[in-house]
Amino acid sequence: MYMLNDYALRTQSALVGADLTSMLAAAVALPEGLRLLDFGCGVGRLMEALVASGFSVDGTDVSEEMLAFARANPKLSKCSFYLSGGGDCGDSPRGHYDIVYSQLCIQHIASRQIRKEIFSSVHDALKPGGMFSFQLHFYPGLDSKEVPLPHVSWDSDKFDALGTNSEEDVWFTADALPSLMADLSGLFQDVRIQIVDFPANAELHTEAYGVRFSHAIISGSKGFSLAQRVYAEMREDS
Ligand SMILES: C[S@@+](CC[C@H](N)C(=O)[O-])C[C@H]1O[C@@H](n2cnc3c(N)ncnc32)[C@H](O)[C@@H]1O
Repeated sequence: MYMLNDYALRTQSALVGADLTSMLAAAVALPEGLRLLDFGCGVGRLMEALVASGFSVDGTDVSEEMLAFARANPKLSKCSFYLSGGGDCGDSPRGHYDIVYSQLCIQHIASRQIRKEIFSSVHDALKPGGMFSFQLHFYPGLDSKEVPLPHVSWDSDKFDALGTNSEEDVWFTADALPSLMADLSGLFQDVRIQIVDFPANAELHTEAYGVRFSHAIISGSKGFSLAQRVYAEMREDS
């Protein structure tokens, strides 16, 4: 929902408040025909909710097995699925999507080089003005040298991770912000990071090693939609 809200704000599709009810209303008010691509879609868990809300959603994933489950889901019968080579969006159409989103996937990719290839492929898949939004785990209390093995910091380029499901994750820390920005800013404009904190008593606020984490929702546009809007308003004011 945050991703849809952000898209609406960037494209001026609707004016959106911060509360969930108005975000939902704004999402429904988004232009018809909005096309979305789920990067690392797995069995299509998030796609189901978006399809139920009337969006056109495709999925890409590196796992044939996950895609086979997704393709067999009657609720996703109108979706197209594309096998990713691990650093790309597979054969999904280029210049086609309004939003590419990724949840619980980029954090499992321990190689910075592969993540950069993915960002470039996502950029190709987007229409001009489209946006990319993905989630990472953010560790506010650590810097990159303190990330416990076998996990890695953003700068690491580990190609031989044991698996793609939390065996060896990338832990994003504040000192890695310049590297993250460098990886995104050559491709995307209006890059934003929103940190979503869990309440201190939430079961989810720690994981293995007892280290507290938050979610970082990171987004960028293919084009200067937000900047153009802000500066247009400034010119009108002057
Ligand atoms: C934890 S699952 C999350 C699935 C889905 N996004 C969700 O939230 O339910 C991670 C998914 O990312 C996929 N994945 C991992 N590395 C990938 C890569 N390099 N390229 C594409 N998909 C990848 C895995 O195959 C898996 O389906």
